[in-house]
Amino acid sequence: MRTQVGIIGCGPAGLLAAHLLHRAGIHSVILESRSRAEVEGTIRAGMLEHWVVGLLNQLGLGERMMREAQFHDGITLQWAGQRLHLPLAELTGGKRVTIYAQHEVLKDLIAARLADGGEIHFGVGATALHGIEGTTPSITFRHGKTGAEETLDCDYIIGADGFHGPSRQAIPGRTEYEKVYPFGWLGILCHAPLSHHELIYANHARGFALLTTRTPSVQRLYIQCDATDRIEAWSDERIWAELQARLAYPGWALSQGPIFQKSIIPLRSFVCGSMQHGRLFLAGDSAHIVPPTGAKGLNLAAADVLVLTRALEAKYRHNNDEALARYSETALRRVWKGERFSWYMTTMLHDNAQETSFERQIHLADLDFLRTSRAAATALAENYVGLDFDA
Ligand code: PHB
Repeated sequence: MRTQVGIIGCGPAGLLAAHLLHRAGIHSVILESRSRAEVEGTIRAGMLEHWVVGLLNQLGLGERMMREAQFHDGITLQWAGQRLHLPLAELTGGKRVTIYAQHEVLKDLIAARLADGGEIHFGVGATALHGIEGTTPSITFRHGKTGAEETLDCDYIIGADGFHGPSRQAIPGRTEYEKVYPFGWLGILCHAPLSHHELIYANHARGFALLTTRTPSVQRLYIQCDATDRIEAWSDERIWAELQARLAYPGWALSQGPIFQKSIIPLRSFVCGSMQHGRLFLAGDSAHIVPPTGAKGLNLAAADVLVLTRALEAKYRHNNDEALARYSETALRRVWKGERFSWYMTTMLHDNAQETSFERQIHLADLDFLRTSRAAATALAENYVGLDFDA
C-alpha cells in the first residue's frame, strides 16, 4: 500500500487533514484503531470557534451543521450570586460561537471523505511507525477482523492518534509540559428543554458547573467532581441536586429531564515541546491536551492541520519546505495561547482544594474585573470565539 501522506487517527485532526490535503490534490490514507461506530459515538465537547465554522463551510462540510447547530452571541458567567453576560459578538466585531457536538462534526467529515473516494481503514491495530528520520517512512498495522498485517508506505506521516497513540512516542528526547488538575468533570446528556439562551459557566463554593446544550430538546451539563469519583457513585438524583445548587439564580429555573448519558473525565493540560521529527508531524491531542473549560480541543486540532496542510501543499506544489521545517514552531505559538486560555478559565472557575484562600480571592477579583473592564472582557471574548488565524 502506498500514499503520499499516511494519517494515523480518524478524529478531528486526522479527518480535517485528509479533507484539506484532498483539496490540495494530495493523496492520503487514514488508519484508525477504533470502529467507525465507536468514533462516531464518542461524546466530547461541542463548541466551534468562528473561523472553524468558516473553514468547514468553505470545504463544503458545513451543510448539516448550519441546519442543526445553535449559534451563540454571548456567554454568561455566574459567581457569588451574580450573573455577568459577556456579549462575545459585540466585543469581537461580530464573531459568534457555534454549538455542534464533536461527534456530529466527525460524522459529517467521515461521510464526505468516503463520498469523495477517500480511504479510511477502521479497526486496525498494532500501528507502528518506521523510518521517520529517512525519506521513505512507513506505517505497519493489522486488520482487526482478518488479522492480516499490512504496510503503508508514504512520504510523510501525520500523527493524529490522540494522547495515548503511538506517534508522540516516536519522537526521541522530546520535552513535555504537563499540569494535572485535582478534579474531573461529570458530564450528562438529558432530554429537557433549553433553560437559558446561552451557556452559563458557574463558579460555586460546591464546585464549578456548566450549562450547555445540544439541540432545543437535548441539553448537556457538567459539574466539577472528584477526579477519582466513579460514575456509579453519582445517581441521577445526586447529579440534579448539585446542578440545581450550583446553577441556582433568583427568578430562574433549571429544566430537568431524563439523563441518557453520563461519564467522568479527568482534567489535564499537556504540551509536547516538539510537534515534528523527521517526516512525522503531530496534530491535535497527540501533541497537546487542554482541560475542557472553553472547549478548545477540536479548535486547536483544526488550527494544527491548517498550518500543516498549507506547509505540505507548499512542499508538493513548489518544492518549498520552509513552512514544513517551521511547522512545530508555528503551531505551538497558537497552541500555547489555547493552553493559557483553557488554564485561565479552569483555574478562575473551579474550586481547588489545593489552593489557598488567597488564590480563591484572586479568582473572584479576576471575575469582577471582567465586569468592570471592557478590555478584560474583550480579551476573554477574543480567545473564546477563537484568535485570528495568524495570531
Ligand atoms: C460543550 O458544549 O460540550 C461545551 C461547551 C463549552 C465548554 C465546554 C464544553 O466550555
